[in-house]
Amino acid sequence: MEKYMIKGGTPLTGEVEISGAKNAALGIVAAAIMTDETVTIENLPDVRDINVLIDTIAEIGATVERVNRHCVRINGSTIHSVHVDNEQVKKIRGSYYLLGALLGKFNKAEVTLPGGCNIGSRPIDQHDKGFTMLGASVKIEYGMIVAEAERLSGAHIFFDVVTVGATINVMLAASLAEGNTIIENAAKEPHIVDVANMLNSMGANIKGAGTDVIRIKGVSKLHGTEYSVIPDQIEAGTFMFAAAATRGNILVKNVIPKHLEALTAKLYEVGCSVEEYDDAVRVIGNPIQKSSQVKTLPYPGFPTDMQPQITVVFSLAKGTSTVTESIFENRFKYVDELTKMGAKIRVEGNIAVIEGVDGLTGANVNALDLRAGAALVVAGLCAEGYTTIDDIHYIQRGYENFDQKLRSIGAQIEIVDSEKEEQKFKFQVI
Ligand code: EPZ
Repeated sequence: MEKYMIKGGTPLTGEVEISGAKNAALGIVAAAIMTDETVTIENLPDVRDINVLIDTIAEIGATVERVNRHCVRINGSTIHSVHVDNEQVKKIRGSYYLLGALLGKFNKAEVTLPGGCNIGSRPIDQHDKGFTMLGASVKIEYGMIVAEAERLSGAHIFFDVVTVGATINVMLAASLAEGNTIIENAAKEPHIVDVANMLNSMGANIKGAGTDVIRIKGVSKLHGTEYSVIPDQIEAGTFMFAAAATRGNILVKNVIPKHLEALTAKLYEVGCSVEEYDDAVRVIGNPIQKSSQVKTLPYPGFPTDMQPQITVVFSLAKGTSTVTESIFENRFKYVDELTKMGAKIRVEGNIAVIEGVDGLTGANVNALDLRAGAALVVAGLCAEGYTTIDDIHYIQRGYENFDQKLRSIGAQIEIVDSEKEEQKFKFQVI
């Protein structure tokens, strides 16, 4: 099994280019099949979850032309099935966007229950509620979500919780429904705005994305477009926090600094310097960083997808910090792995109390999910000695060329697949 092997202790310095946003691209690839015309998507991240979704739309008949690693041309006129089920797609969460896309286009969709990271109970009741209010019947049968409507009609939908997935899914389906849809208590993440912009460029009529009320006037059909995905704010944030944790100096390029404000604010609080440019941010770590508090919240609050990474930063700060997780109830499982590296963390319910330590030490740890895995990599880069991280397939779901990008800013990290390769790595690194 492939693992990352890391020799830590080197401050990361240099420049790194951020890829397209995975969680926006998932919605955008699904949206692309809603027209019979050709859609070209650029700045796609070359990561596992996106590649699985693209292979899956090809499997149901969409014509897919890979222009290059980051650009794909999709034509949905050749789709011959609304039944989405394969071993790979079962493992990703973004598969559920095919429900909204196929239901909008064909009034029927059968999609395997979504997988994704095991970070707590991840219900889909709000997706169900949204589709039902648009006039569909939704049931779960043999592990599949089956949604069907004679016709979809606009509706006034008030979400009970702020949910990214259900907001995007209802936007997709409602774009081709008859009449007007209003989504209240909508999620406001940058990827919601990106998917809405993409749908609008296909002829949809969506207003208010990025606020908590989204208004959609249904149109009878969508047309082809060329669209470029926004940069991934979580990948960017991971490199920003890696600069802080390793006391490095990284220019993180191809970002939208506005999307990173919650992260920038915390970096200032702990004592880092942050310089903002038009499409880049530089983070300079401080030898002595201060403790702080954070609570995860829907955008524009501090993102849950950055919670494990800030825990690593706090682990190396002076004093006691707290991290409150308010989105997913089971997102602290990685704490046991961090404590193997010498971190001092106590979890009480949904709060982690982190007592800063002077340093971490290398250990053999497991990536338990995507962001937890990335946080362990950051911890390994700070730790004295060697760290090996198993189950890196989780990390590869959402970080393009993570090890390569890290090496380009001075990290000593390799993918190793055998004891021999581990020995070789130890021999090569200084
Ligand atoms: C998306 O998950 C992201 N995944 C997650 O990123 C991210 O952590 C999350 O949004 C929050 O930002 C994708 O975009 C593929 P939600 P999603 O619906 O859509 C509750 C990563 O690391 N809820 O916004 O599944 C839910 O339990 C991943 O890239 C319901 O109760 O999240 C949670 O408490 C991990 N009923 C809250 O809402 C529902 O029907 C937010 O979930 C739906 C959600």
